[in-house]
Amino acid sequence: MARQGVLGVLATVAALLSFVSAAERQPDLHDRRAAYMRAHFSDAIRTHDAVARGDLDAARAHAQRLAAHQPEVPFPTGWAAFSTLMINAAREIEGAPRLELAARSTAVLLTRCGECHQAQHVVARVARHLEDAAPAATAMREHQAAADLLLIALVEPSASSWDQGAQSFSRIRLPRDDMPNRQLRARALIGDARFTAFAAAAAEAVRPPDRARVYGRVLSTCAGCHREHGVESWGPDRRPPP
Ligand code: HEC
Ligand code: HEC
Repeated sequence: MARQGVLGVLATVAALLSFVSAAERQPDLHDRRAAYMRAHFSDAIRTHDAVARGDLDAARAHAQRLAAHQPEVPFPTGWAAFSTLMINAAREIEGAPRLELAARSTAVLLTRCGECHQAQHVVARVARHLEDAAPAATAMREHQAAADLLLIALVEPSASSWDQGAQSFSRIRLPRDDMPNRQLRARALIGDARFTAFAAAAAEAVRPPDRARVYGRVLSTCAGCHREHGVESWGPDRRPPP
């Protein structure tokens, strides 16, 4: 009798456990949408970092993956238009004949993320995903951090992050003494002048297309110098998990 009682309890526990795991297999809509977005984020960052390194081929490959994302999650009406705009920007990167054009389209892509978030009244907290993947303390950490403030500002979107990024760029200088040769030291001087000018332009830019234009130039300047050294050796290479 007592034994049957124990078996009964065990059966109930087993039933409960299988119920719980079934619930886990079917996460709610919010979690599934968030997971879909994190996959976007991952591919968008990998595209972005490849452009910043001056690696056009890698950027194209990552953008191609991003453009091929198909939502398995039901999206409310109204999302489709934003999704299409984002995919168009990804396709532009995929087909970009030059690094400068890829940089411009990458900035547009990030702006598209932010435009949908704003329309959907979500602030996509991307900073925490980015922090995990940020490079360790390096000579260029200030430039990476300043560029990331602008990137976060476009994606979330966040006006205060944009302002902080613009302020950083007006203040920081490239580590000229660390540059391996004279050409690069000269290039760092030009880079500093450009970043100062972009900081002023960023402070004026409010509309997403204007911000995209400024960020595209910033990214293009990072890319141009890193490319000098041959691709894949300089610049950020973060791989956030999808
Ligand atoms: C079609 C509209 C739309 C587009 C385009 C879009 N997002 Fe989102 N995003 C959302 C919505 C809505 C949420 C909130 C989802 C939820 O939590 O239910 C979200 C949430 C997020 C999150 C937070 C996920 C989490 O862990 O909570 C990240 C990160 C994100 N988006 C990144 C991006 C990036 C990067 C892009 C562009 C490459 C992008 N999104 C493009 C609508 C969009
Ligand atoms: C004037 C040339 C130049 C410009 C412009 C430039 N970088 Fe760099 N970058 C370098 C050099 C040189 C290295 C390699 C430094 C080293 O290994 O000591 C480097 C390396 C890096 C790294 C790898 C980590 C490190 O410090 O080794 C990151 C990340 C980085 N740059 C980010 C950026 C970002 C973001 C921008 C644009 C906002 C940028 N860089 C603009 C020359 C430049």
